[in-house]
Amino acid sequence: MDDEVIVMDNGAVIALACDHGGFELMSEIKAYLGDRGLKFADFGTYSSDRCDYPDFARRATDAIISGQCAAGILVCGTGVGMSIAANRVPGIRAALCGDCYTAELTRRHNDANVLALGGRVLGSGLALKIVETFLDTGFEGGRHGERIAMLDANRSAADTGLRVNSASSAEQVWPVAMTKM
Ligand code: RB5
Repeated sequence: MDDEVIVMDNGAVIALACDHGGFELMSEIKAYLGDRGLKFADFGTYSSDRCDYPDFARRATDAIISGQCAAGILVCGTGVGMSIAANRVPGIRAALCGDCYTAELTRRHNDANVLALGGRVLGSGLALKIVETFLDTGFEGGRHGERIAMLDANRSAADTGLRVNSASSAEQVWPVAMTKM
């Protein structure tokens, strides 16, 4: 991928989900996405009342796997529970990020389609910078694509009956379009 990219909204929808530990940060993420004109679907939770993160992770990952959403951002207290929940779903590649370098590289090398964040770990300034980096970085493909294919090939036979978005990484729509200058 070239260093310079033009970023614009291409209409794809970002799936959002959080639990009570991520509720506050998620409000800031929604405001950020709104300011950028990026479309999102909010799968809850909708208050700071205690709830169970696996329920909300599932709603967001279902929307990605079905093709309703192109990517997701999940927030719980540490981001760990959400990332574990998301990564149990075939076709989801969730990255728990606490810095922009990881957010950039997980897009370039892992084609991560879900960003997990810790609402009780990160300040909102850093968290929003991580979101920006994640959304604005493209996948490099090549040998990294081959490795992702290996991940999919490693899936157990028991998974084969599950619904999986069969589009290759190259075909999938990313919420932010990138045009090489
Ligand atoms: C909720 O207290 C907390 O356990 C949850 O938000 C998350 O951090 C789990 O990984």
